[in-house]
Amino acid sequence: MLAPSRPIGVFDSGVGGLSVLRHIRAALPGEDLLYVADSAHAPYGVKSAAFIESRALAIAEFLVAQNAKALVVACNTATAAAIATLRQRFDLLIVGMEPAVKPAAEATRSGVIGVLATSGTLESARFAELVQRFGSQARVVVQPCPGLVEQVEAGDLSGPVTRALLSGYVTPLLVQGADTLVLGCTHYPFLQPLLRELAGDRAVFIETGAAVARQLARRLVEASASPCFYGADFRSAQQVGTVVFFSSGDPCHLEALLPRLWGSAVPVEHLTCG
Ligand code: DGL
Repeated sequence: MLAPSRPIGVFDSGVGGLSVLRHIRAALPGEDLLYVADSAHAPYGVKSAAFIESRALAIAEFLVAQNAKALVVACNTATAAAIATLRQRFDLLIVGMEPAVKPAAEATRSGVIGVLATSGTLESARFAELVQRFGSQARVVVQPCPGLVEQVEAGDLSGPVTRALLSGYVTPLLVQGADTLVLGCTHYPFLQPLLRELAGDRAVFIETGAAVARQLARRLVEASASPCFYGADFRSAQQVGTVVFFSSGDPCHLEALLPRLWGSAVPVEHLTCG
């Protein structure tokens, strides 16, 4: 008989983490997933590291109370602000994410890479360390993108305001010779059609969702080989996993966005934590 399944908890400031969740669902079709959109507190990118850390801890407490066997911080900003504290506080398999500077530095032909991310990520010590490690292989040009997360949260992926904002952020990177652009915020993959249109064949875009899903799968396989470690089991692809969505904001708002950003209409539960 199958052991009762323990879910994987995934969170972001809002809908951005859905761009990671879709890769997790594809890589691990048998796993049960819990997704928390902290929409009442989005955007994280302009908030203090201490505030983001307190939100990450409250959401992690909630997911652990749901018996999560693993936690994915599907947010570059929250990873930069809180992953060290989360790892100290919870004896759990925890996967975070960071802008794909390394793969971009390996891929660039022009020797210049552009990083689009939130101010919180770009100003963090983790990001500085990342650039120090891989910045010798390529020139790294950074671009904070105020307002972009709000556009994605509003479901405006291609309207005139989003287009003008994005053009204002991408053009300077192209002018500086960047041929490889890192999508260093999980909200930005939803803007890829518009990004491609704006950049044409002058640049390629690198996102991190697939790599995060592969790392999570690898870590779950390792954990399932040693049953005492984290108590994580590994659900085979023969099983069909469930997904439950929570929002700290208005659940109806997320429900309205899910058909477009997740691919199907799913009810959303309201979450009060922290
Ligand atoms: N999606 C998040 C990230 O990857 C956070 C965006 C925000 O809330 O500002 O950084």
